[in-house]
Amino acid sequence: MKIKKAVLPVAGFGTRFLPATKAIPKEMLTIIDKPLIEYAVEEAISAGAEEIIFITSYTKPAIKNYFSRVPELEKQLKSTGKIELLEKIQPKIFENVKFTYINQKEQKGLGHAILLAEEAVGSDAFSVLLPDDLFISTPSCLEQIRDSYSQNLQPTIAVNRIDKNNIHKYGVVDLGGNQLNKTNTAVISNIIEKPHASVAPSDIAVAGRYIFNPTIFECIKKVEADNSGEIQITDAIKLLTKIENVQVKIFDGEKYDCGSKDGYLEATIAVAMKDPYYSNKIKKIITGKL
Ligand code: UTP
Repeated sequence: MKIKKAVLPVAGFGTRFLPATKAIPKEMLTIIDKPLIEYAVEEAISAGAEEIIFITSYTKPAIKNYFSRVPELEKQLKSTGKIELLEKIQPKIFENVKFTYINQKEQKGLGHAILLAEEAVGSDAFSVLLPDDLFISTPSCLEQIRDSYSQNLQPTIAVNRIDKNNIHKYGVVDLGGNQLNKTNTAVISNIIEKPHASVAPSDIAVAGRYIFNPTIFECIKKVEADNSGEIQITDAIKLLTKIENVQVKIFDGEKYDCGSKDGYLEATIAVAMKDPYYSNKIKKIITGKL
């Protein structure tokens, strides 16, 4: 099964990464030489995306520029025989993919950003990927939740286990007595945004990959803004659990929260350590033997 439309909300201010994010969208920060957003686009395509819908902000033109062709550069790379770089700036997997940009005028939260994609999404299931969460796995995290979704067409959210000390940073799910099946999937009864560890309903937290049916839009419309004026997707999912079975899947693989400096640093080191050239360099730097 293909999930043909993918929504990538990228309109946030990225305040945890200031001052860099004053001019560089956090989704354009690179892990070695590839921006975070490209990892997410590749993941969306791995699950069958034919259209990538960016919810972006006019203050972040770099994202649209990045997915546009640059004829002068292509010509220069061709004439100098740098064919491998040509493939890097215009990957073959992007060839039949449509890129759509929707402006979020005011940063009214993730739920609000996703709602702006309603018309572009239409009547089919769609994925949501938060590019600042970087997943490293084969099959990709989105493919894994797509496989769970395709079993029963129930909205599916990627989750992972989080230790008590960090649980207050995440949306945490309540399985309400339901058991995880052998594919590590279960229907949830509720979801709580950033609970204190003492009241967290589980140690299972939402990661930044979702597959929804268009019913989620009706739920987002019913959500009121929270104290900070944001419409949270967690509140919409809470409402969704009352009208559809919502399931979570504990994915297999690594996840890095690249919206935080710690997570970004970890991701950079983890990706570098998978490459023999860079891992040798890093080991030498650490041991002072450069
Ligand atoms: P985050 O809260 O992680 O992103 O939102 P942020 O607000 O950019 O970062 P900080 O907390 O200030 O450092 C999760 C995702 O939702 C998007 C963000 O771009 C990010 O991908 N988002 C958030 C929107 O598109 N619009 C919003 O109004 C809020």
